[in-house]
Amino acid sequence: MQSLQDKASEWSGVAAADAFAIDDVNIFESLGGTPQPFVDLSTNFYTRVYGDEEGWFREIFAGSKKEDAIQNQYEFLIQRMGGPPLFSQRRGHPALIGRHRPFLVTHQAAERWLHHMRQALDTTASIDEDSKTKMMNFFRHTAYFLVAGNEMTRQGQGVACKHATSKPAE
Ligand code: HEM
Repeated sequence: MQSLQDKASEWSGVAAADAFAIDDVNIFESLGGTPQPFVDLSTNFYTRVYGDEEGWFREIFAGSKKEDAIQNQYEFLIQRMGGPPLFSQRRGHPALIGRHRPFLVTHQAAERWLHHMRQALDTTASIDEDSKTKMMNFFRHTAYFLVAGNEMTRQGQGVACKHATSKPAE
């Protein structure tokens, strides 16, 4: 059976080695070691998501307040990109597939999510080009990992992953 990682690579077109190139350097430190670039990116991204002209996509986020979604995301990104474990301290283990279980994470939703993230990255001046490339590969691979995981959890199985932490899950 094809693994979730393999599906993520096939569907996203991003090899696992490129997706996890975010671990080759400490991106948090290389961007100055402050939360600001991640706050900028998450605010930019969710402003696009909550203002999306595509109602079907906006609706997926209707259960969360924009401010909360922004904080959840930048704390996760800071943690995953080499900074302090803000997300886990406040929310617990990232468990991304489990946390996305309530939402219909389809191929179409992944493409819309990535469309907004591409635009948000393109218009966030506090992130350099090399980091943007690495982050976009990670986002693309993770988005399709979530699509594959969403299909699987709907069939009632669990999974451990490397998208939320550089250490293997217990
Ligand atoms: C949360 C949808 C992709 C990371 C959420 C939420 C929704 C959502 C509706 C709830 C908002 C909140 O309350 O925080 C989607 C959809 C995706 C997608 C439709 C399309 C593929 C991703 C990707 C990542 C990610 C690629 C990481 C790289 C997160 C994180 C949270 C979150 C960290 C916060 C979870 C929490 O604090 O409980 N997502 N997401 N998502 N998403 Fe996604």
